[in-house]
Amino acid sequence: MKKDVIVTGGAGFIGANIVSALKGKGLNIHIFDNFSTGNKNNLNLNEVNLYKIDLKDDFRKWPKINASTFYHFAANADVRGGLYNHEIDLNENLLVTKNCCDYAINNKIKNFVFASSATVYGEPDIYPTSEECIFNQTSLYGASKISCEAFIQAYSNYGYFKSTIFRFVSWIGKGYSHGVIYDFVEKLLKDQNSLEILGNGKQIKSYLDVRDGVRGVLDISELHNQKSCVFNLGHDETMNVIKLADIVCDEMNLEKVEYKFTGGSRGWIGDSPFVHLDTKRAKEYGWFPKIKIEDGIRETVRYLMFNKSRRFR
Ligand SMILES: NC(=O)c1ccc[n+]([C@@H]2O[C@H](COP(=O)([O-])OP(=O)(O)OC[C@H]3O[C@@H](n4cnc5c(N)ncnc54)[C@H](O)[C@@H]3O)[C@@H](O)[C@H]2O)c1
Repeated sequence: MKKDVIVTGGAGFIGANIVSALKGKGLNIHIFDNFSTGNKNNLNLNEVNLYKIDLKDDFRKWPKINASTFYHFAANADVRGGLYNHEIDLNENLLVTKNCCDYAINNKIKNFVFASSATVYGEPDIYPTSEECIFNQTSLYGASKISCEAFIQAYSNYGYFKSTIFRFVSWIGKGYSHGVIYDFVEKLLKDQNSLEILGNGKQIKSYLDVRDGVRGVLDISELHNQKSCVFNLGHDETMNVIKLADIVCDEMNLEKVEYKFTGGSRGWIGDSPFVHLDTKRAKEYGWFPKIKIEDGIRETVRYLMFNKSRRFR
């Protein structure tokens, strides 16, 4: 008999890619999503069970599913949002995650997988940053993700389920719907002569192709046998924003684009100017990123350009 699994946020960028990989494993997939940023077009509706649910609502009213694993990818994924709206991360991230944990407990689901973020480190002192580094929160998004992690860890230590927490750098690739490459392509479609770059463009970040990320999430969450474990998922390579802009312009066949910097070492208040994760722990499970950052960026630009009528207003 097919095993059942639940994916929250399964209509979003990362969730839809997780769903598509889980389908390849012959699982019966149930998606819980309110479509706030997710889209049904990201899914093959014949192959999944889709439930429109706002996960802030009472978890006792959600459909009861006898699932083996609960993949929790629904969230406010916009790091900047919390600066202007002090409720969004508390509600969409922490409250939603607590509801998901309580639902998993009520339905005796024994594996819980969570999408956290490199943002939990804020601006750490050590790079590449390992899972043990001391946190220094610089955004409400990061603060909410580390709070979600703490709740999940506590529930695991009560013995309710095994949990796997992944701290991701920025994902890129098929289905990409938000982030710096999206912003650049959108701006360049409107104006091919100049490009506004937030900050001084010297921010250094790491990016992970969605194929590497999905493989890491599915393999590592199955392989480890601790009650609760946190894994960084990122790339050994890094790239500054100016180099990324050069690649985007080149892939769009645009020459002589004038870069206009908004100034300062951060893109926005709460932006981490340097993100580079130590992924030794994930590599102990045989995982490593196979796709070079530059190749991933070029493929992402091609994906956005090919889907531009659907992806841009
Ligand atoms: N994309 C990245 O680079 C990145 C990096 C680090 C961490 N993450 C985390 O990974 C997860 C997925 O991110 P993504 O990029 O796919 O974001 P996304 O916005 O594309 O997907 C989020 C999904 O959650 C759904 N959702 C949001 N609030 C909900 C609610 N209250 N009830 C039901 N559904 C709700 C949305 O409709 C959407 O389908 C998030 O937890 C995000 O914080 C993403």
